[in-house]
Amino acid sequence: MTARHYSPLDQLLINLDQGVRTVFGRPQVTERPNPAKELPDTEMEDREREHTARLMRINHTGEVCAQALYQGQALTAKLPEVRSKMDRAAKEENDHLDWCESRIGQLGGRKSLLNPLFYAGSFAIGALAGAAGDKWSLGFVAETEHQVESHLEDHLEQVPEEDRRTRAILEQMKEDEMGHASMALAAGGAELPDPIKLAMQLTSKVMTKSVYWFRVECQPGRSG
Ligand SMILES: [Fe+2]
Ligand SMILES: [Fe+2]
Repeated sequence: MTARHYSPLDQLLINLDQGVRTVFGRPQVTERPNPAKELPDTEMEDREREHTARLMRINHTGEVCAQALYQGQALTAKLPEVRSKMDRAAKEENDHLDWCESRIGQLGGRKSLLNPLFYAGSFAIGALAGAAGDKWSLGFVAETEHQVESHLEDHLEQVPEEDRRTRAILEQMKEDEMGHASMALAAGGAELPDPIKLAMQLTSKVMTKSVYWFRVECQPGRSG
């Protein structure tokens, strides 16, 4: 089967559509159910509930960024052998986005006002990484996923043991991110230079701190 070729205008419209869906709408998810779906909700103190909702807001914005990175990269990277795996990984990021949004709503929290800004920035970074060549682009995916995994571990330490819904989502996300990192490394991802890793860590620190405090109303009625 021959791959379909899109004009630059088609690509621009496709990317705009994906960006708007990611930030404001319902992105395309996989067949997997929300891991928290069958679990009972938990009584929590207001302070704990609010803190957990804010952590999930950070994770939600992280998934907005992940989606933007994958889309930006898809625009510029070649990656012929792993294209379908990358597409699957991007869809799994949409699952994460959906699960986080659903949990934020259940916890009475709100999504971040800054998501469009982070989407745009991450899209540009993804496109740059893709243009740098496949081994760097895949190395960038692997490093991003490792950093996300360590965030998730940190959040799992902060979320109360009895909050099984949040924990189930975070555990599944962590497993998925590890899978994405392994896929990128197995496909030839290179180890990034330390200054780039450091810059990525600093960027994510700015994101997590700002998103913890700034917010906008969450749309109700998501799955889960
Ligand atoms: Fe993710
Ligand atoms: Fe991932």
